[in-house]
Amino acid sequence: MRTPSDTHSRDDHITSAEDAHAPALEIQGISKTFSNRRQHVHVLDNLSLEVHPGEFVSIIGPSGSGKSTLFHIIGGLTAPDKGSILMDGLEITGAKGRIAYMPQQPALFPWRTIEDNVLLPEELRGTSKAAARSQARSWMERAGLTGFEQAYPHTLSGGMQQRAAFLRALMSPQEVMCLDEPFSALDALTRSDMQRWLLDIWEDTRRSVLMITHHIEEALLLSDSIYILSARPGTVLQRVKVPFPRPRPEAILFDPTFISMKTEIAAMMREEQQKR
Ligand SMILES: Nc1ncnc2c1ncn2[C@@H]1O[C@H](COP(=O)(O)OP(=O)(O)OP(=O)(O)O)[C@@H](O)[C@H]1O
Ligand SMILES: [Mg+2]
Repeated sequence: MRTPSDTHSRDDHITSAEDAHAPALEIQGISKTFSNRRQHVHVLDNLSLEVHPGEFVSIIGPSGSGKSTLFHIIGGLTAPDKGSILMDGLEITGAKGRIAYMPQQPALFPWRTIEDNVLLPEELRGTSKAAARSQARSWMERAGLTGFEQAYPHTLSGGMQQRAAFLRALMSPQEVMCLDEPFSALDALTRSDMQRWLLDIWEDTRRSVLMITHHIEEALLLSDSIYILSARPGTVLQRVKVPFPRPRPEAILFDPTFISMKTEIAAMMREEQQKR
């Protein structure tokens, strides 16, 4: 696992068969309709996006526009009707285990303690339990979970479970992290602490991140690019490049450009919500 002090070289992952200039993750023309005997729900329509190595990309879109479905497709859990998923220029459509994934529901294993959930990716990689435990504990301390190492998931609040699930994704070794609304169950203050925390970790490690959020300010604070999706069937309405240099200080929230971008995106989202 990488720690904030352990600067990561993306070149580790690039073999001679891979294209060093290719996006870390590329979604090409994904369409998906769910059908049963009574109805067809057209969820995604020709959706394309890309995450370059070390880029932080967010997706914002109305509820039901297929964002979580897109993550299931990226993770190989759902098959698309059309389109492809590529990593470092190689097609991986349908392949499992290629991304560090935090699902919208924390999905912690109920029979494992919080600590054993967090260290699972390291355990699967064959790291000794003692080393994995000390890594897990240091991250848990930074996420405010100290004292709950031996607790079972059902005894924690929704926000605490979400933080544990986030740490489990962080401890996963894959280069690309897909985070599905990682902070949605947190109160405003904890959310803002976790955003700052994620920003600090990310600025040190520069992993490639694709994050779903409904929170425009969060997307602007953390991202290099934001994809705005339409109402269902979800397709990309616009890609917004976020111009602020890093490291990004707290004061950025009051920057006139930040505020006008936030207002513009909110107006676009309101328009889309009304189409639902
Ligand atoms: N396995 C499935 N079978 C049938 N329909 C599904 C399935 N998974 C998702 N859907 C439908 O696809 C649509 C999109 O769902 P999805 O969870 O991807 O939306 P979302 O954009 O993540 O929404 P939210 O912002 O509320 O999390 C919904 O109408 C949902 O009912
Ligand atoms: Mg969702």
